[in-house]
Amino acid sequence: MPTLAVYPGSFDPLTNGHVDIILRGARLFDRIAVAILVNAEKSPLFSMDERLDILRAVFKDHPNVEIDTFDGLLVDYVERRRAQVIVRGLRAISDFEYEFQMALMNRRLNPKIETVFMMPAEQYTYISSKLIKEVFALGGRVHGLVPELVEARLRDKVTA
Ligand code: PNS
Repeated sequence: MPTLAVYPGSFDPLTNGHVDIILRGARLFDRIAVAILVNAEKSPLFSMDERLDILRAVFKDHPNVEIDTFDGLLVDYVERRRAQVIVRGLRAISDFEYEFQMALMNRRLNPKIETVFMMPAEQYTYISSKLIKEVFALGGRVHGLVPELVEARLRDKVTA
């Protein structure tokens, strides 16, 4: 049976670290579904439609990368999709505790689903969506840390 992996997250916004993990996942698994969590934050910078548009545009040439949304428990979404694997990126030791807790909780909720961790290329190990938003809001350069489309959409937010 072909392996479907789910890469869940908020993607507010998509960073080059996320892109790196998605491409690694797309090479490792038959298909990877990038699943954007609905209502993760009360006031996200990018709406769900904007995030969907960005992710679809960035991965338009990757037929085994699918962009989707989910609500509720991640394991329920994974089960509904008949996926076998949850992919998460691990950047630094600081990620470990939260990721370890989530992986074990998800395993307890559904022991059939395996969490696989992947490390991004080292130039992305310090990037997070939160830092990108903060740096950009304060006038800092985020070029090379996010896809060009995200950079353009961030600029649109300033001029809007
Ligand atoms: O990009 P993020 O914000 O680190 O992603 C976190 C995410 C979406 C993977 C996590 O918050 C999640 O799975 N939320 C869905 C609700 C759920 O299943 N919670 C229990 C996880 S143990």
